[in-house]
Amino acid sequence: MKVAVYPGSFDPITNGHIDILSRATVLFDKVIISVLENPEKTPLLDLEKRLELIRTATKDMPKVEVDCFSGLTVNYALQKKACTIIRGLRVISDFEKELQMAHINRKMTPEIDTIFLMCNLKYAFLSSSMVKEISFLGGDINCLVPECVKTHLNKLRETR
Ligand code: PNS
Repeated sequence: MKVAVYPGSFDPITNGHIDILSRATVLFDKVIISVLENPEKTPLLDLEKRLELIRTATKDMPKVEVDCFSGLTVNYALQKKACTIIRGLRVISDFEKELQMAHINRKMTPEIDTIFLMCNLKYAFLSSSMVKEISFLGGDINCLVPECVKTHLNKLRETR
């Protein structure tokens, strides 16, 4: 059974993340999308809400498991018996940071590889921060995020 972990902040999950996830499920038997619990960061959405939105958005993806973790991604991957870490690439500037992260992770845990998947060109400009900004300024985030995320961000905007 080939297992991969797809770690990230997912604050919130976007259609770009879903695109990467569906590509990963073609390559692996199980893909665990896992939200990092990071005490250093103050996300817009708390951990439970991010997990709930991911669960809703991936309910029709049988190979996908939703989870959270803290600490090092490589330790989490080992614990889940995953052989690979999945990261998405949108534009070339993503690559520098991602390459550094992949090398650091390999130095710590040589048996786990990182695979970069390129998202569909239509999501190359998309990021969670941009989605939040557009939504709070009243812009249209249809086609950028799953329906459940759109509904939740709209609700947050109205109660601000
Ligand atoms: O969605 P993000 O914020 O780009 O995800 C970054 C993430 C969570 C993959 C990265 O920060 C991470 O792996 N953090 C866990 C701590 C860790 O393993 N650090 C060493 C590698 S940089």
